[in-house]
Amino acid sequence: MARVKVAVLASGRGSNFKAILNEIQAGRCNAEMVVLITNKPEAPAIGIAKENNIPVELIEKKNFSSREEMDDKIKETLDKYGTELVVLAGYMLLIKGKNLLEAYKNKIINIHPALLPAFPGATAQKDAFEYGVKLSGLTVHFVDESLDAGPIIYQEAVDISDCKTEDEVAAKILKVEHIAYAKVVDSFSRGKYVVEGRRANFVENK
Ligand code: GRF
Repeated sequence: MARVKVAVLASGRGSNFKAILNEIQAGRCNAEMVVLITNKPEAPAIGIAKENNIPVELIEKKNFSSREEMDDKIKETLDKYGTELVVLAGYMLLIKGKNLLEAYKNKIINIHPALLPAFPGATAQKDAFEYGVKLSGLTVHFVDESLDAGPIIYQEAVDISDCKTEDEVAAKILKVEHIAYAKVVDSFSRGKYVVEGRRANFVENK
């Protein structure tokens, strides 16, 4: 079975990036990391890429006159590395470029630390904690022009009823993210998701 060629986009610590790499190295995720793209020169994810001999491409907002232009550069970079699947792992910018979204339609995925459509946005764990929900979790979804609202690929619930702080919620969900995200990446080497309306249905390769 061919390994799926994955590009990761990350802005920060990159723990999901690292977790996917670990699962690849352990033989549980049939993927090849072809490039890390980051918009932050200080992102700890860069160190993880370097330790693992993965090329790093820095694409910073300040060097472009529009987000469309920035995303065109990202598209060009993804093409250059023969990317088959784009994995957002703590990438803190919305993708706005039409060319990028069209060229990689249903090939860009994101992980969100809540059960969407509950608690979209950048403070999902805090929002879930403050709302007092007992169950939260994670969602892996396709990325489109919306915020955290593309077709859902995978969800897993996490019992947060014992958490005393929003940080405990974040840590408990993150542990589950690390296994789940690699499993979803692996699934792309075994089949594809057919999207009909909002529904993404997995179809195994023959
Ligand atoms: C995770 O909580 C993920 O759900 C969200 O951003 C965070 C990224 O963490 N999209 P890391 O950079 O992978 O450690």
